[in-house]
Amino acid sequence: MEISSQASLGQFNTFGVTSHAAHFADVTSTEQLKAALEFGDSNNLPIQILGGGSNVLFVHDFPGLVIRIASSGCEQISTEGGIKVAAGENWHYLVRSCLRNELHGLENLALIPGTVGGAPIQNIGAYGVEIAQFISEVEVLELETGKIRLFTRKECEFAYRDSIFKNQLSNQIVVLSVSFQLNQGRPLNFSYPSLYETIEIELAKIPRGQEVTPQLIFDTVCRIRRAKLPDPAVIGNAGSFFKNPVVSQSKHDQLRDQFPDLPSFPVNDTDLVKIPAAWLLDQAGWRGRSRGAAGVHKDHALVLVNLGEATGEEILLLAEEMSQSTLDRYGIALETEVRII
Ligand code: FAD
Ligand code: EPU
Repeated sequence: MEISSQASLGQFNTFGVTSHAAHFADVTSTEQLKAALEFGDSNNLPIQILGGGSNVLFVHDFPGLVIRIASSGCEQISTEGGIKVAAGENWHYLVRSCLRNELHGLENLALIPGTVGGAPIQNIGAYGVEIAQFISEVEVLELETGKIRLFTRKECEFAYRDSIFKNQLSNQIVVLSVSFQLNQGRPLNFSYPSLYETIEIELAKIPRGQEVTPQLIFDTVCRIRRAKLPDPAVIGNAGSFFKNPVVSQSKHDQLRDQFPDLPSFPVNDTDLVKIPAAWLLDQAGWRGRSRGAAGVHKDHALVLVNLGEATGEEILLLAEEMSQSTLDRYGIALETEVRII
């Protein structure tokens, strides 16, 4: 393992912003990770763990050691759909490989960028599924003690775009591997409205009696995502920049009186309501706007984009302006989903 100095992070974040780390290491094993941490410790360096860089915004140069997790490997741990996957594996490749091996459930989460280790940090979700539903255990290394610890799904405290790793244990652990319990047959989940509607159209094109398959869900999710979200290889972005706000029923009713078209979704087993931040921002006129090279995607108001040589700071300033405008207009301050570093 090599530890480089003054390393450019441009190719390691999907926003493509230019930033430098005082030190940088790519680690492919737990031994290498421990050696890198020792280097950091003996030089008193702050540590930043990085996966695929698809949910981070670097606003300054990082004065410490950035460790990119690049471990690989996947093993079967039960004959009933249990697998354990190294943190550095590419998430979408895992979804594809599960599909080929007739392990189902993750197909709704196709095409989400990043690594397997990055996925439980914010409990990735899309098209009616969250990764939490399929996680049995997360194996982590504690930075403080150097000990390896297993978290059961319950201990991970998963919630909407949240987990104990993003909260109380933020920057205190490194995910080494994730164990999944996948389905070997049904049930499939395609009740999410836009997924269901597109699948119905697809089914109409194929012979009668044909049923929905995991492959059809995978293909449809990929098609919807490609049509809606910009490809970071073409235009820098980190997906949704903000979380969708969750408000009380009374706050929702008050907003609905003012904005009769306001879309909303009930939050399971609560009297809370989720409101699409994209709609709030779109109605406030943000879609397609820009400040220099920092912009809001022309087709999606929740996706901030790097139109060229934007700095992380410029993107953050734009985001702050957007959040202030939703506070002024709707009384809702948006919470960032992306990690600001
Ligand atoms: P990084 O961006 O590298 O890191 C994110 C955070 O996790 C950082 O705090 C980092 O320190 C920490 N981290 C990463 N790996 C580890 C590890 N091994 N151990 C400890 N901490 C770690 N997200 C969704 O939930 N749903 C979507 O539909 C979705 N769509 C997206 C579409 C696009 C086009 C893009 C660019 C992003 C999208 N995202 C989505 C966000 C992002 O892809 C996910 O959050 C992804 O899981 C981040 O993984 P990563 O490896 O890139 O993490
Ligand atoms: N909308 C607008 N204007 C826009 C875009 C969308 O009014 O510019 C409206 C749509 O018409 C729709 C609503 O906003 O009624 C929601 O839009 P969309 O279906 O695109 O979903 P989203 O809430 O913006 C969430 C996740 C995505 C995930 C999709 C699919 C969050 C913060 N985002 O997006 O996750 O892929 O649902 O499940 O929860 C991510 O986290 O990075 C991410 C991309």
